[in-house]
Amino acid sequence: MTSLDELEQRAKKLLDPVHYDYFAGGAGDEIALADNEQAFRRLALLPRVLRNTSARSIATPLLGDPGSMPMFVSPTAFHRLAHPEGELATARGVAAAGLILTASMAATVAIVEVTAAAREIDRDARVWFQLYLQPQPEVTEEIVRRAERAGCTALMVTVDSPAHGRRTRDDRHAFTDLPAGLYAENMRGLPGVTESEVRQIGMSSDFTWDHLDRLREVTRLPLVLKGILHPEDARLAIDHGADAILVSNHGGRQLDIAPAALDALPAVVAAVAGRIPVFVDGGVRRGSDVALALALGATAVGVGRPVLWGLTVGGDKGVTGVLDTLRSDFEHTLTLCGIAELSELNAGLVVARGAAARC
Ligand code: FNR
Repeated sequence: MTSLDELEQRAKKLLDPVHYDYFAGGAGDEIALADNEQAFRRLALLPRVLRNTSARSIATPLLGDPGSMPMFVSPTAFHRLAHPEGELATARGVAAAGLILTASMAATVAIVEVTAAAREIDRDARVWFQLYLQPQPEVTEEIVRRAERAGCTALMVTVDSPAHGRRTRDDRHAFTDLPAGLYAENMRGLPGVTESEVRQIGMSSDFTWDHLDRLREVTRLPLVLKGILHPEDARLAIDHGADAILVSNHGGRQLDIAPAALDALPAVVAAVAGRIPVFVDGGVRRGSDVALALALGATAVGVGRPVLWGLTVGGDKGVTGVLDTLRSDFEHTLTLCGIAELSELNAGLVVARGAAARC
């Protein structure tokens, strides 16, 4: 695998065009979507030389969970649209790469089966669960209990979705529902519906920081707040008990006028001032992107769509292939940049492309 863009083109040929557009698309004019990737292209890293980087380790625990590099898999919905085994294959593929999978609440396989599939490959595999707070607190609580019982080790609470994003490509195809036979399995048999019924995932603009406080009381799992872009929200997140923040514009699928995640990162890092880890996702397609994000202060990056392309093309092996490609590319970048330890990546090495370096 030479480039994840090529992989996307292979996946595109295999997928139903409606489902390809669901995976690839973004909100509105797809400005935020495009900008996520372009933000990385606007920056350069200044390499250092003659620094013996041969003994470097890139293993990075996140919230106490082991990880083979400073990267995890961000939550994406509906993996059975990409591959018949859906999230089961994703879980196996991510576990084989020694990384953490964040399973989406909108998965087409129930969380208990996802964690079991990951552990078949590696007894120590870790799975985090992504949660959308639900308008009824008892529904939220039951979903949290399911994630806990399944052995998830952190909750990633997505806070950038007071409403569904308006995705132009989905609107064009009138794509609103899963094909017959596929369901958001984590929404089955929740309070207020019968055992076999599947609830809609609710979005609400009513939520406030009080709801996060309530969640903090309901569970002892570490909470990662996903979808923070404003530094003041990062401060509030810490005040309200977040254990980590994920700087994200939801892969350009929510607010089209949001900045690129990478551009929002430095101000959030400054506001957090080392108190909790700061993650970033959106547009990571190369190992050099991981290096840039870390240099700007991220503890780790999340990767979304490339995993879906790997899943489409090669099931679990395809997923592992994507993650291994990113890892090897990251290692190679570090070697060429003369980085002997990850802590040497810092903002002083980052230069705006086309501007003179000032070190
Ligand atoms: C997502 N994302 C997402 N986020 C979330 O919190 N819950 C979800 O269910 C989903 N579902 C979802 C589906 C699809 C098809 C995509 C592409 C994305 C957002 C995701 O977690 C992440 O923020 C972005 O995908 C990161 O950007 P890249 O790596 O795809 O550029």
